[in-house]
Amino acid sequence: MSTFSEQFRKHFSQPPAAFARAPGRVEFIGNHTDYNGGAVLGAAINRTVTVAAAPAPAGQFNLRSMGGSVPVELALLPGGRLTGEAAWANYPLGVWRALGDFGLPRPAGFNLLVDSDLPAGAGLSSSAALELATALALLKLADGTITPDRLAALGRHAENTYVGVPCGILDQGTSAHGETGQLVHIDCRGPVFARVPLPADTHLWIFNTREKHALVDGLYATRHRECMTAAKVLGVKLLADLTPAQFAAKSVRLDPVIAKRAQHVIEEHARVGETVAALGRDDLVAVGRLLTASHRSSQHLFENSTPTLDRLVDLLTAHPAVLGARLTGGGFGGAVMALTRGTFVAGDAHAIAAQTRAHPEIIHLQTADGAKVIL
Ligand code: GLA
Repeated sequence: MSTFSEQFRKHFSQPPAAFARAPGRVEFIGNHTDYNGGAVLGAAINRTVTVAAAPAPAGQFNLRSMGGSVPVELALLPGGRLTGEAAWANYPLGVWRALGDFGLPRPAGFNLLVDSDLPAGAGLSSSAALELATALALLKLADGTITPDRLAALGRHAENTYVGVPCGILDQGTSAHGETGQLVHIDCRGPVFARVPLPADTHLWIFNTREKHALVDGLYATRHRECMTAAKVLGVKLLADLTPAQFAAKSVRLDPVIAKRAQHVIEEHARVGETVAALGRDDLVAVGRLLTASHRSSQHLFENSTPTLDRLVDLLTAHPAVLGARLTGGGFGGAVMALTRGTFVAGDAHAIAAQTRAHPEIIHLQTADGAKVIL
């Protein structure tokens, strides 16, 4: 913290007045179910974004990052979104705007410094973590408070409205509601948040391919559109309104590609329910099977996987200590998550990674608590 504070003083010639930290998340299962009104299981992880902030004169917004991002200094807020290298600042500036939309107190201007050990573009939600840590720090500057439910909604609103990504509530909801040792269950229609214990003798590993499709945001929006089209043709508000059996009876109405997208979402929603049930009876083999089935559905139906992610899942699921493996997050690159028994060790992870050309970054994750003000 001290170097972080020193850096803050160096850049802004004043001490920080608020610190907040928010975790990234792993999508345990429930791929693209959230914006379709379905269920999802996530976990907050011990990789975080930390934000330090202090008030600045009204209308002045100065944003810096300890990582490689370019500093952004604004004496006037732009009407639209920032582009190019400054685009990262849309997240904290979007949060400041969202605080106004939610009728919450906010500073008239601010200096902000970001630190992160969460790889960007890995599908671990560095964006949501930045949104939530910023919201808590800015609220602290203005003596405001917020519940985890509202915090999640505010982060999502900032991303939908001011960044322009039509994401659901998974990332922000998990970062807000995370708890060590627990999975966060979200019934996205409410949304209603609950917790489900992660079995103590299991482990989460991430294989971050560092690959990211150049059009990833556009592809996410395309999938979102395809799902909304399917719901409309099938006569429901959202795809999770249909059971797999109801869908099977109606799916001929759909264009074949749209039908594959819808089948993925509807069966994935069902898989989340089955996973909760399997966790409840401590049936780890069934949990693992469901995770891998989720990946195969992404691979063949939703088509948001990549050959590298598929190869990693193939290699991982051939290992006896791996219960299941799947892509985690939006897809089109990013990372594979594996759920393993305790007998799976770093040497196993490296041996598997070495069999791909991707040189993935390996992270043995721990679950963690949700976003909070730390000073
Ligand atoms: C991204 C989005 C989430 C969710 C996942 C896919 O992480 O931000 O809202 O849609 O993709 O499940």
